[in-house]
Amino acid sequence: MVGEVDVVGAKNSVLKLMAAALLAEGTTTITNCPEILDVPLMAEVLRSLGCSVEIDGTTVHITTPSEVEHRATSSAMGKLRASVCVLGPLVARCRRAVVTLPGGDAIGSRPLDMHQNGLRQLGASSHIEHGVVVAEAEDLSGAQIWLDFPSVGATENILMAAALAEGTTVIDNAAREPEIVDLCVMLQQMGAKIEGSGTSTLTVYGVPKLEAVQHRVIGDRIVGATWAFAAATTCGDITVRGVQPQHVNLVLEKLRIAGAEITTSDEEFRVAMNRRPEAVDFVTLPFPGFPTDLQPMALALSAVADGTSMITENLFESRFRFIEELVRMGADARTDGHHAVVRGQQHLSSAPVWATDIRAGVGLVLAGLCADGVTEVWDVFHIDRGYPDFVANLGQLGAAIERVGENA
Ligand code: EPZ
Repeated sequence: MVGEVDVVGAKNSVLKLMAAALLAEGTTTITNCPEILDVPLMAEVLRSLGCSVEIDGTTVHITTPSEVEHRATSSAMGKLRASVCVLGPLVARCRRAVVTLPGGDAIGSRPLDMHQNGLRQLGASSHIEHGVVVAEAEDLSGAQIWLDFPSVGATENILMAAALAEGTTVIDNAAREPEIVDLCVMLQQMGAKIEGSGTSTLTVYGVPKLEAVQHRVIGDRIVGATWAFAAATTCGDITVRGVQPQHVNLVLEKLRIAGAEITTSDEEFRVAMNRRPEAVDFVTLPFPGFPTDLQPMALALSAVADGTSMITENLFESRFRFIEELVRMGADARTDGHHAVVRGQQHLSSAPVWATDIRAGVGLVLAGLCADGVTEVWDVFHIDRGYPDFVANLGQLGAAIERVGENA
């Protein structure tokens, strides 16, 4: 695979920025949005709360009324994980929220205890009943909050609630992902007072009111790094535009160790692999560690690498489900708890395989590009949730790939 690919905004940022629009009356405009299935799903959630939402290509306009509905129970809620990020804004605006438990990738148990504990420390009561999480508060007041784990979703919900709370909130062991920084930047543009974005300590000085703004989403580092893995796995040469290299530093370093030539500049990086990749070990961790969302791509690379790799998954206990599909293609991979050992094979063989979630689907396509024969990847609707124009981009880079039927 050879060529250049442009990457647009990050799924795991735009969906939270859309939820943050609930915090301010008026029209919020978000640009550089990815044209993926999850954006219209989040729009449906916001419409059910009384907003009007217009999606115009890569621009989303969200008009939030003075009175927002506090019940988020539309059927769209169960189709994506990010829907839970309306919880914080609704408690902040309405002092009450009834939110259907989120859906999204079945990669682990994914509880909401840290979201709820954070809101409780801001003064809300919260419980789960009949498939919804309820949170209520007379008032929200600032607090010192420790997270057991730097959860992305919990950090985002607490941050958005604290922005309109009385007084100062300190979130310790907060998530540091670039998507958290992007949310902080938009909240600050809206008038929020936040210090420490990108560090593990966020300090939020509550303000009485926020204003609707225009904001450009950061490039999707997971999509960008996927193309980097595509180049390394298929012995290709791909230039990725639209993602800040510092958001994928560790990923590029791992590919350098595997034997790839890496060049970077402002919002661009190039990955060229002109021989069989070397086996490398991967350990998934919160940012700036190796992203769990790239674990399936690391597995696909390891399946064809020269040598044996150990891959350790520290975030989602069921994210190795994908391995069974790789084994259908002749991969020598086995798991033991949250470790997987992969002995690289010179060749994989084509087979019908099933995508179990967004990233697993992409991992299977990368493995299919290295397999003898024609691999059929089924249930690719998962991939549509996170990758705009995936098949077209692959074709443009020289891959022999086509989409047949709705789900294959
Ligand atoms: C976000 O999920 C992303 N999703 C995930 O990407 C990503 O894998 C994850 O962050 C980690 O980077 C979205 O942004 C929509 P967490 P989130 O809360 O917020 C545990 C993709 O492929 N936890 O940081 O759900 C949890 O079970 C998706 O795009 C609790 O125990 O992740 C997990 O083990 C998949 N209690 C760990 O923390 C809580 O209250 C990290 O979860 C919250 C989380």
